[in-house]
Amino acid sequence: MTTAPIADTELHLPSSSAEQRVLMLYVHVPFCHSRCTFCDWVQAIPNKDLLRKPGDSVRMNYIRALCQEIEHRGAELAGVDTLPYVVYWGGGTASSLDNDEATQVMTALRNSFDLSTVAEATIECSPDTVDEEKLAFFRSLGFNRVSSGVQSFDDERLKRLGRRHSADQASRLTHAARAVGFEDVSIDIMSGFPDQSMDELRHTVDRALELPINHLSLYSFRPTPGTFMRRKMDPDEKRGYVRDQKHLFTEARRLINAAGMNEYASGYFGKVSPFAAMYFQLRADTVGFGSGAISLVNQQFQSHRKGLLHSYVQAPTSFDISGPASQDRVLVSFLQAGLAMFDGVLRDEWRIATGTELDEVLTRPAIAPLFEFLRGRGLVSDERGIRLPVRNVGVTLIELAFEMAMSQPELE
Ligand SMILES: C[S@@+](CC[C@H](N)C(=O)[O-])C[C@H]1O[C@@H](n2cnc3c(N)ncnc32)[C@H](O)[C@@H]1O
Ligand code: SF4
Repeated sequence: MTTAPIADTELHLPSSSAEQRVLMLYVHVPFCHSRCTFCDWVQAIPNKDLLRKPGDSVRMNYIRALCQEIEHRGAELAGVDTLPYVVYWGGGTASSLDNDEATQVMTALRNSFDLSTVAEATIECSPDTVDEEKLAFFRSLGFNRVSSGVQSFDDERLKRLGRRHSADQASRLTHAARAVGFEDVSIDIMSGFPDQSMDELRHTVDRALELPINHLSLYSFRPTPGTFMRRKMDPDEKRGYVRDQKHLFTEARRLINAAGMNEYASGYFGKVSPFAAMYFQLRADTVGFGSGAISLVNQQFQSHRKGLLHSYVQAPTSFDISGPASQDRVLVSFLQAGLAMFDGVLRDEWRIATGTELDEVLTRPAIAPLFEFLRGRGLVSDERGIRLPVRNVGVTLIELAFEMAMSQPELE
């Protein structure tokens, strides 16, 4: 693979400084129409909450709490010089919000932050929740980018994944998004399901590449405890799974790159998304709203624990977890995220976001073994930051994520 790291001058992205904080505003929507067998974003949410429909009283309270949190935190940041640059509504399934719910949340955001400087506003969709009319509504609400989960273009596989849409429906979503004026359209596909064949994956990649998209995310399945798919796996077969996962992912990225969609971060192809680049490289402060959302503001890490919908509704402005971003556990997750970007972890951005020096962090007892492992994979360190060789990034991160997921015990 010959893709070179992207030079900063090509990205044209602002970064937070001591004087001005660039902001990413993330809204978490913990509702879906179904629970997919592989999904590790919602495994902490009980079914009765995940599947709540518009009009349900708990759901109405959630939207109210979300708006309250947005307004409260907007007021907290009112005295700070901020540059809101990215808006991202994810989940769960953000597009499962009905028009009234989505309008309430967007109104709270507009009343609390100056959205005139936002360059990218993404709504995460799933194909079973939108049609052309709904997409036109999201466009009129101010979103300029659609990102939809698809996972596979094999109808049989989609059924087994617990998806509520067909391959054709997914393809129609991308055409409809274009028709209503979205220039930026992205889809997610997945590789590395335990029984996935290379032919099946190639078919999915081929179908994805026929669509009017300008971004494609390829995720290798993480066997996170609590997912149905993980429960079906045999821990003794671990080595075989990882080998297959690396093989499948490598072939898929080869095909996508060969079709002319340039990879800029592991599994991210096409037009660089400011959301992805800023998230991976800590270029912005993240203000996350909702149960399950994390925030990194002013070198503080804060989070509302996933799944705790009811306690969130009771106290949307207090966090379950709050502390300095300089903690080992937090920094390990930032390191992993940063290395996904071919341009790697950037020293200056890291210092401003976490209040720590990268070299000091890498020698900490809890982090040094990871550093040694990465050095074994050819980690490059220079005055700009640290990065993995492009050919190694994907497989190295797959190994790390797989090991991490499989080392956690299955949930009761
Ligand atoms: C938060 S989900 C939302 C997508 C949207 N709700 C949908 O399903 O269409 C974002 C993406 O994470 C990926 N994902 C979910 N679980 C995963 C897992 N266990 N391993 C790797 N990727 C995963 C899927 O590709 C999914 O589209
Ligand atoms: S993949 Fe999407 S629709 Fe499926 S459970 Fe996860 S968040 Fe919900």
